[in-house]
Amino acid sequence: MGTPHINAEKGDIAKTVLMPGDPLRAKFIADNYLENVKRFNTVRNMFGYTGTYQGKPISVMGSGMGMPSIGIYSYELYKFFDVERIVRIGSCGAYTDEIDLYDVLLATSAYSESSYAKVQSGTYDEAYTYPTKSLNDTLEKHASDLDIPIRKGVIHSSDVFYRENFDDYKTIYKEHNAIAVEMESFALFHNAKMTGKEAACILTVSDSLVTKEATSAEERQNAFTKMMEIALSLAE
Ligand code: HPA
Repeated sequence: MGTPHINAEKGDIAKTVLMPGDPLRAKFIADNYLENVKRFNTVRNMFGYTGTYQGKPISVMGSGMGMPSIGIYSYELYKFFDVERIVRIGSCGAYTDEIDLYDVLLATSAYSESSYAKVQSGTYDEAYTYPTKSLNDTLEKHASDLDIPIRKGVIHSSDVFYRENFDDYKTIYKEHNAIAVEMESFALFHNAKMTGKEAACILTVSDSLVTKEATSAEERQNAFTKMMEIALSLAE
C-alpha cells in the first residue's frame, strides 16, 4: 500500500507507535531496545521500525519537528495503518524554576496559539487539546512501577522556536499554567481525537527558559533512557 510519506504495508506497523522527533533517535531505540527489528519507512529519512520489546510488538518512528510534520505522520499512521496509539517521547524547555533539567513530564493537556486544529477539522477552535486519559493513567503506573518520578502538567505547543521576545514565555506560564514548551503535542492530540484513536506525550526537560541552562546532545541521549523505558512498557 503506502502513503505519500510512509512506504510500508499495513501489517508492518504495530498498534502502538512511539514517536521521538528525531528519526535517528527512533533508530537508537530500535538498535538498543528492540529485537526482531524491521525498518518500515525510509521516505525522507523519517525512519520507522517495528520490533519486539520483552517479546511484544511495538513500533518507533520519527515525527520531525513541529505540528505540520507530526500532523502528517500521525494522521497517516492512525488513518491508513490501523495504529491505535501514539506516544510522543520528546524534549521540552522548562517555563518554571520548579522544574529541573532531565525531569520527566507527562502532558495533561497541550495549550497552543496554533491554527492546526481549526484548519484540520474546520470545527474545533480551542486553544487546548488533550491526551487520552486511560493512556496517561497507564504511563503513570509504568513510571511508578519503574520507580521513575514524573511530573504532570499543561504543556505549551509552540509554532516558533526562536521568538524575538523570549520573555513571552512568562505570560504563557501565568495565563495558561503551561510548565514547559515543545512543538508537537497539540497537533498529535487533535489527530487522535479526530480519528478516534489514543495519544499521549512524555517529555524530558532539555533546557530551561528561566535559568538558560541547556543539556549537551550526549547528556540528552542518556537522560532520555528513563522516558523510553516508561513508554516501551506499552508493548502488548
Ligand atoms: N522551545 C521549543 N521546543 C523545545 C524547546 C524550547 O525551548 N526545548 C525543547 N523543545
